[in-house]
Amino acid sequence: MQSIDPAKLPRHVGIIMDGNGRWAKQRFRNRIFGHEEGANSVREVARCCRKLEIPYLTLYAFSKENWQRPKSEVSALWSLLDRFLESELPEMVDKEIRLRHLGDPEGIPEDVLARLRKAIDETSGFDKLTLSLAINYGGRQEILLAARKFAQDVQEGRHLPEDLTDEVFSSYLFTADYPDPDLIIRTGGEYRVSNFLLWQLAYAELYTSQLLWPDFREEQFMEALVDYQGRERRFGKTGDQLKSDSTD
Ligand code: FPP
Repeated sequence: MQSIDPAKLPRHVGIIMDGNGRWAKQRFRNRIFGHEEGANSVREVARCCRKLEIPYLTLYAFSKENWQRPKSEVSALWSLLDRFLESELPEMVDKEIRLRHLGDPEGIPEDVLARLRKAIDETSGFDKLTLSLAINYGGRQEILLAARKFAQDVQEGRHLPEDLTDEVFSSYLFTADYPDPDLIIRTGGEYRVSNFLLWQLAYAELYTSQLLWPDFREEQFMEALVDYQGRERRFGKTGDQLKSDSTD
């Protein structure tokens, strides 16, 4: 495998972790078994970001749409998240990882929310890696919430409608102080964005893997980074313009 160029690492990686259920099914086990194994991939990829000094990692852990799954799976997912937050907090503190939540707190079971808030509080002073869990999250809902808050600020005289720029709008999102994601990874062989970071992914590079999330570990994450480093990020410009920019 090619080596990673530390000067060209993404600042923010977002991951749609898909394929836990299929991974379990292939092994004649229930879907929860796949989610449990998926949590091990979460740990490994987060450690890898920390090691490489990638400052932001955002993981899609529970979408607004996931409520439609069987009740038993939904409650097993909450229980897994709860256990994960409890077991990983010491390592987060030790490695100075800041945990954040993107999404709607309303609807998250009280005990999970309390655990989440505790981990967020106890890691709030760290900045080596911002690990964000998108939980009870939907990109459209996030955009609507931002639009409502801006409208409220206009109504109450804190803003004029014409103040609204890309930057101002971004500041109303859950990710207000984050850089936009440079790289979005989706495992599980699907080619959808599934309501994930819809506003923020405007210029992100997309990387899809056929592998199921529990099989996506450090080596596969490194491969995604090497692939990313081979991309030409044009932000709407031509390839020739980029070459002349770099010689200016
Ligand atoms: C998609 O697989 C995965 C999810 C809906 C949940 C993501 C959760 C985890 C990776 C578990 C642990 C997370 C943390 C942060 C501890 P799927 O069930 O849709 O798989 P399928 O497409 O094969 O059915």
